[in-house]
Amino acid sequence: MTDRTTETSWEVERAFGLAGRRAIVTGASRGIGRTVAIGLARAGADVALVGRDEAALAETADLVRQARPSAAVSVHRCDVRDTASVRRCVAAVEDEGPVDVLVNNAGLNIRKKALETSEADWQTVVDTDLKGAFFMAQEVGRGMVARGRGSIINVSSVGGHVALRTGVAYAAAKAGVIQMTKVLALEWGPHGVRVNGIAPWYFRTPLTDPLLADPAYLRDVLDRTPLGRVGEVTELIGPVVFLASDASSYVNGHTLFVDGGMSVYGF
Ligand SMILES: NC(=O)c1ccc[n+]([C@@H]2O[C@H](COP(=O)([O-])OP(=O)(O)OC[C@H]3O[C@@H](n4cnc5c(N)ncnc54)[C@H](OP(=O)(O)O)[C@@H]3O)[C@@H](O)[C@H]2O)c1
Repeated sequence: MTDRTTETSWEVERAFGLAGRRAIVTGASRGIGRTVAIGLARAGADVALVGRDEAALAETADLVRQARPSAAVSVHRCDVRDTASVRRCVAAVEDEGPVDVLVNNAGLNIRKKALETSEADWQTVVDTDLKGAFFMAQEVGRGMVARGRGSIINVSSVGGHVALRTGVAYAAAKAGVIQMTKVLALEWGPHGVRVNGIAPWYFRTPLTDPLLADPAYLRDVLDRTPLGRVGEVTELIGPVVFLASDASSYVNGHTLFVDGGMSVYGF
C-alpha cells in the first residue's frame, strides 16, 4: 500500500480550483447567490444563474464576465417552488453540459410570530426554502449520481439550528435543509456525490438590509456575535468554493456554520 504520509505533491491551487467545472447557483439575481456565483467563476467554474428575475440575473452574468471574462455564463428563469419549472431549468442547463456543482441558495423569509403565521405564509417559506431546495437537488443529483461525481451545497441558516425570533416557518425549513443534507449525503455518497451545507448568520444583503438598518436590532445581533460584526457576503465565497472543490473531498453531510462564532454562544 502507498504511504500517503510521504506525499509531497499536493497542490493547493489545484485542490481549491474549479477549472473545467460547471456550477448552478439558484437565487443568483442578488445577495449571497450573486456573490457566490462571481466567486465560483473567479475560482475557475462556468456558472448557470437561476432565479425568477431574468433582468437581475443578466446583471449578475455581466458581473461574472467582468470577474473572469473567459467564464461561460448562462441565465435560466426558474421558480424553485414549481417542480415542473425546476425540471425544465435543470434540463436546459444539462443540455449545455454536465453539472458538477449545485449551490442551492434561493430562499426567503416571512418574519411573523407563530400565532400570526398563516397557512399561506408557511407554504411560501417552506416551498421555497425546503421543497425548492430538495427538488433542485433531486433533479441535479440524478445526473450527478449517474455520472458518479458532484458536489451540492445547500444554504441553510443559523436559524435552522438555534431558536431565533425570526419566524417559525423559516426555522423549520432551514432545520429541514440541514437534515436533508445529511440524508442526501448518506444516499449519494456511495455514488461519488457529496452533499454539504453552509449556515450563515447575518450578512448584509437585500434580505437583511432593512433589519440591520435598525440600530437596536443591529446591536442585538452584534452582542450575540463573538467576532463583533456582521459578515461581508464575500466571506461566504471561501466556504462555498471549499465545499465545491476537491479541497473538501472527504467532507460529506456537513453543514458549515459561517457565523462569526454566534452558534457557540451559550449565554
Ligand atoms: N443574508 C443573510 O444574512 C442570510 C443568513 C442566513 C441564511 N441566508 C440564506 O441565504 C440565501 C440567500 O439569501 P440572501 O440574503 O442573498 O437573500 P436575497 O438577497 O433576498 O436573495 C434571495 C434570492 O433567492 C431568490 N429566490 C427567492 N425565491 C425564489 C424562487 N421561488 N425561485 C427562484 N429563486 C428565488 C431571489 O430571486 P428572485 O426573487 O429574483 O427570484 C434572490 O436571488 C437564502 O436561502 C437565505 O435564507 C441568508
